[in-house]
Amino acid sequence: MCGQFHTHLRIIPNCYIEIRRKHFRFSGMGRNHRLFFATDVHGSEICFRKFLNAPKLYQVDTLVLGGDITGKVIVPIVETAPGKFVTTFLDIKQEFDQDKLKAFEEKITNSGYYPYHATEDQMKSLKNDRSNVDKLFLKLMIERLESWVKLTEETFKGKAVVCYITGGNDDPYEISEALNKSKRVQDPEERVVQLDDEHEMISLGYSNPTPWKLPRDVSEEVLAEKIEAMTSKVQNMPTCVFNLHVPPKESMLDQCPLLDGSVDPPKPVSSGGQPVFAGAGSKAVLDAIQKHQPLLGLHGHIHESRAAQKFGRTLCLNPGSEYSEGILRGAIVTYNEKKILSYQFTSG
Ligand SMILES: [Fe+2]
Repeated sequence: MCGQFHTHLRIIPNCYIEIRRKHFRFSGMGRNHRLFFATDVHGSEICFRKFLNAPKLYQVDTLVLGGDITGKVIVPIVETAPGKFVTTFLDIKQEFDQDKLKAFEEKITNSGYYPYHATEDQMKSLKNDRSNVDKLFLKLMIERLESWVKLTEETFKGKAVVCYITGGNDDPYEISEALNKSKRVQDPEERVVQLDDEHEMISLGYSNPTPWKLPRDVSEEVLAEKIEAMTSKVQNMPTCVFNLHVPPKESMLDQCPLLDGSVDPPKPVSSGGQPVFAGAGSKAVLDAIQKHQPLLGLHGHIHESRAAQKFGRTLCLNPGSEYSEGILRGAIVTYNEKKILSYQFTSG
């Protein structure tokens, strides 16, 4: 039978695709797909480069990067005299010469921070006006994302790879424009996208409220509405992937130290000298998974809660994050049109 189909391939290429699909359905085997998911890289250059290496390393055909892709810290570098630089990194003041500059910038870029060359006057201006800091953050975030999009294009030139990159609750809305400048990269936020012939994916970077009151923190009610707006458009729910930044509430995927958000900055709550752990995930996400029972849930947000858990037929994964160490944590998932065949957490 296969020989006949291959004959069709040579004569009528378009028909081959259709015939092959029917053949696999007839045999009940389904075509296998391999997806690589990583999340919460928070601006780390080396983590993103490792992410782009996944198709070659793990033979995956779909790449999904979950939310919280931008960095949290600007590291000003001030030139105090020609070729002499001073900076404060991780609360430690450092002075170095021109020949050490590149290595220092690389180190902080790989940790997800943004090096920023500033004069003494520019530093004063930043200290005096918070809005200048916000503008600078946005500029540096967008510059790095644009360089990542360019790198993605170069890496997958001539290959049929689409890289789905989603924002998270930590990411400003403005980043979407930077992500959508290339055909190789798609920001699938609040949309249903077709991963392949059989699998759709919905994506949401919003979170239930956090102690930090971040750009995409919303109430559980709003989260539920946003998820429902997408699920109502899904054609085939049993094969759908839920790429939802926040993990389901009170699960193995959402455990972290409980924080007191009434103080600034929020402080860990302790009891008997020990930190109190609690689930920081979302009830709306849990309810949606339990109600719709999709094939797969891809989550992040809680870096320290790397885990897999099944909710009915749905496998939910949070690969965790160790971006500040330059370590990319991820998950490879193999699946067909009916079920998950295997999954494996990665770290490297
Ligand atoms: Fe997050």
